[in-house]
Amino acid sequence: MVKFNVDNYKKLLKTDRLGKDIIYLRAVDSTNSYASRILKNKTRGNKIQDGTLILAETQEKGRGRQERRWLSPPGGLWFTLITKTTLERKKLPEVTLIAAYSAAVVLNRIYGIEVIIKWPNDLYYKKTKLGGILTEVEEINKDIFLIIGIGINVNISIDDLSPYNNESTSIRAILDRDVERENLLSEILLEFEKNYNYYCRTEDFKSIFKKIEELLDYGVDNSTTK
Ligand code: BTN
Repeated sequence: MVKFNVDNYKKLLKTDRLGKDIIYLRAVDSTNSYASRILKNKTRGNKIQDGTLILAETQEKGRGRQERRWLSPPGGLWFTLITKTTLERKKLPEVTLIAAYSAAVVLNRIYGIEVIIKWPNDLYYKKTKLGGILTEVEEINKDIFLIIGIGINVNISIDDLSPYNNESTSIRAILDRDVERENLLSEILLEFEKNYNYYCRTEDFKSIFKKIEELLDYGVDNSTTK
């Protein structure tokens, strides 16, 4: 397995804030759980830079919505962003859709993969699941932190996903080749930063939603464990 190259990623990253600070882990239970822990750890919490990214090569207890298991073998992109937000709580669910939309736009732009967003948080290619978003919230001393976890099956063989069901796919399976995860991640962060900043600045979800809607499938949420 080709390890994620942090130096290469830093050279490619063009964001102002998101992902500048990276915590790279070979293995973790879940990057979202790790993010919660470091936020709750007061001594360290104060030092967490806004936009910190946690990335792991594998997750032993990757989580999806509704406590579903998220398989995270080597070769995928399993990462979490931490950002302090001033958005009202009721405006936070939209952030998941904005993250899903940002990933979908980039996957289409770089690789021509036509991704559909299955409401509210899944990335689908044709009828198979390519990725998902798990957004969680932590309130610490009245500050609200968003924990935005994104998982994309990148350089993974279908066999590493399919023993559990046949509804998952990967970029490797779609393109029949591996791609540079560092480039994919840096592009997703740039796109997400642009869309998220716009939403925070204007709180205008309607105009973003017009674009999201073109990629949205409201179909029944029947996803199972991978
Ligand atoms: C879902 O399918 O419901 C969402 C899956 C989200 C998976 C990502 S991988 C990185 C982050 N860490 C987790 O434990 N989950 C998210």
